[in-house]
Amino acid sequence: MSNASEPDSGQTGFWTKRWDAGKIPWDLGDIPAALNTFLLAEQIPGRALVPGCGSGYEVKAFHQAGYDVTAIDLAGTAVERARGLFPELADRFIHANFFKHDFGSQRFDLVYERGFLCSLPTTRWPDYAARMSDLIIPGGRLAGLFLYGEEPEPPPFPLTTELAEKLLGATFKLLRTEVSTAPSVPVYQGMEHWQEWQRIAT
Ligand SMILES: C[S@@+](CC[C@H](N)C(=O)[O-])C[C@H]1O[C@@H](n2cnc3c(N)ncnc32)[C@H](O)[C@@H]1O
Repeated sequence: MSNASEPDSGQTGFWTKRWDAGKIPWDLGDIPAALNTFLLAEQIPGRALVPGCGSGYEVKAFHQAGYDVTAIDLAGTAVERARGLFPELADRFIHANFFKHDFGSQRFDLVYERGFLCSLPTTRWPDYAARMSDLIIPGGRLAGLFLYGEEPEPPPFPLTTELAEKLLGATFKLLRTEVSTAPSVPVYQGMEHWQEWQRIAT
């Protein structure tokens, strides 16, 4: 839980400062191996959303796999970088706050998670769960790498099994969970779990 003396990762300035200074220790420079495995096994691509997309490597991977993909990040420098890396997909990147952006009637078959939930102070986690429940169609999935473990100096704010169930269990069912042993960035290494949560019809 954050306190008054900690930098507040729920504030836009926290992220723009890091992006503008090039302090992006979470950036893998590629797509995670677990996503590659997932995309190879997927038979029916649909609409995908990548919240807190950062450099957006995964956006290209979803697009190549046949998904109609949208990505969003509140840091202007992140969106500029993603558009520069993938100019052919520039219009897929939205520069906005995930919690405030108006997606209209658009809903998603899949929302991809990596480094987004753990970047938010735990006080914002209920908003995350509510937004995901709203944006994902019944039967759709919230899938990706979730951070588990302990972190003495958050962010990142890691999950525990109990916290995850409390947060998502009312509207999602956990279909798959696997510890990722693939090489990652030092700040996440050994803490990433590939998970697939299915939106329950409520
Ligand atoms: C730890 S980084 C992870 C970036 C990317 N997912 C990755 O794996 O490299 C968290 C990202 O979420 C973005 N972010 C934080 N809060 C956000 C919000 N409310 N709406 C949209 N993006 C947000 C930050 O700007 C940052 O790029």
